Amino acid sequence: MATEIWQRCAALIEELGLGYSDDVLDVRPLTGGVASDIAMVTLPGQKLCIKFALPKLKVAADWHAPVHRNAAEYAWLRVAAAQFPETAIRLYGRSDTAHGFAMEYLEGRDVYLWKAALLAGEADRGEARQVADLLGRIHARSARADFDSAPFQNRDDFRALRIEPYLNYTATLHNDLAAPLAALARQLYQNAQVLVHGDVSPKNILLRSGAPVILDAECATMGDPCFDLAFCLNHLVLKAIHLPASRAGLLDAVGGFWRAYAPHVSWEDPDGLQARVAALLPALMLARVDGKSPVEYLTPGEQAIVRNLTPGLIRNPLTHLDKFAAHIGDQIGKTST
Ligand SMILES: Nc1ncnc2c1ncn2[C@@H]1O[C@H](COP(=O)(O)OP(=O)(O)O)[C@@H](O)[C@H]1O
Ligand SMILES: [Mg+2]
Repeated sequence: MATEIWQRCAALIEELGLGYSDDVLDVRPLTGGVASDIAMVTLPGQKLCIKFALPKLKVAADWHAPVHRNAAEYAWLRVAAAQFPETAIRLYGRSDTAHGFAMEYLEGRDVYLWKAALLAGEADRGEARQVADLLGRIHARSARADFDSAPFQNRDDFRALRIEPYLNYTATLHNDLAAPLAALARQLYQNAQVLVHGDVSPKNILLRSGAPVILDAECATMGDPCFDLAFCLNHLVLKAIHLPASRAGLLDAVGGFWRAYAPHVSWEDPDGLQARVAALLPALMLARVDGKSPVEYLTPGEQAIVRNLTPGLIRNPLTHLDKFAAHIGDQIGKTST
C-alpha cells in the first residue's frame, strides 16, 4: 500500500510537471477521510498534498462512488481560489486519467483542524461565523448569471454520495418518516440555485492564520444552499449533544452561523432558506446516527437522544435556527438520563 501510493504520487508529479519521480523524498498517507487516497508528499524544498479519488468508500456500508468526482472537487477548489486568492488552498494541477490532483500542504503553528479544536473543547475563535461568511460568498458568487456552472452539473453524483446514503437509506430504517425524508430528498435533487460544496464538515476545514480553508469538495454540484448550511450545523448540534461543557457555546454558534451567512443571500428570500435549513437539519442529525456514514463519537446514549429528538422536528419543522438551537438545548436536558 505504502509503495503503491508512493508510485502513484510520483507518477502524478511527473505528469503535472512538478518534478521527477526521483525527486520524491517522502510520501505519508493522511488519515481522517473515507473517500480518497491522500498523502503528504515531500519534494526538495516543497511539501505537497496529493489526493486521488477512491472507487469505493472506506465505510462499513457498501458505498461506491464515481472517481470523476475528483474533477468536481478540483473545480470547486478553483472557484474558491479565484475568489479568495490570499487565503484559499493553492493548486498545482490535476490529472484526468489518474483522478488525482496536487495542492499545497498546509501545516505550521498557525494551522489547525476545526474538528480537533471542537472535540478538544477549545474556546470558540469565531470559526462558525467565518465558515458561514466564506460559504455565503461562494454561494452568492455562484448564483450570479456569469458563473460557469458547467463543471458542477453533478446532481446524480450528489444523489449517490449524499441524498441516497443519508436520506433514502435512513428512511428504510425509519418507515414512519419515509414521506418527509423523501420530500427532502426530492427537493435536494431538484433545486440548483447555487454551487453546493457538499461536505462542509469541521473535519474538512483547516484554519490557517484564522481564515478557514474548506477542503474535500468531492460532492460539489449546483444544488440547494440549505444542504451546506444544514450539513455544517449538524456537526455543531451533534457535538453540542456530545460535549456538555461546550453545549451552550455550540448552540449559540448555530444562530451566529446563520447571521453571518444571511447577508449574502441575494438569490432568494432568506427566511425561506432558513426554514429549509431548519427542516433538513433534524433529518441529517438522524442520518448521522442511522445513515450509511454515522459519526464515530456519539455514545449509545447520545445516539438515543438523537433518535428521540429528531422525528418530531422532521415531521413538524421549526423555521428559525435560533429556535431550533433553543429547542435542542431544552430537549437534551429532558431526554438524557
Ligand atoms: N492540503 C492539505 N494540507 C494539509 N492537510 C490536508 C490537506 N488536505 C487534506 N488534509 C487532511 O487530510 C484529511 C483528509 O483529506 P480530505 O480531502 O478530507 O479527504 P477525504 O475525501 O478522504 O475525506 C483532512 O481531514 C485534513 O486533515
Ligand atoms: Mg474529508
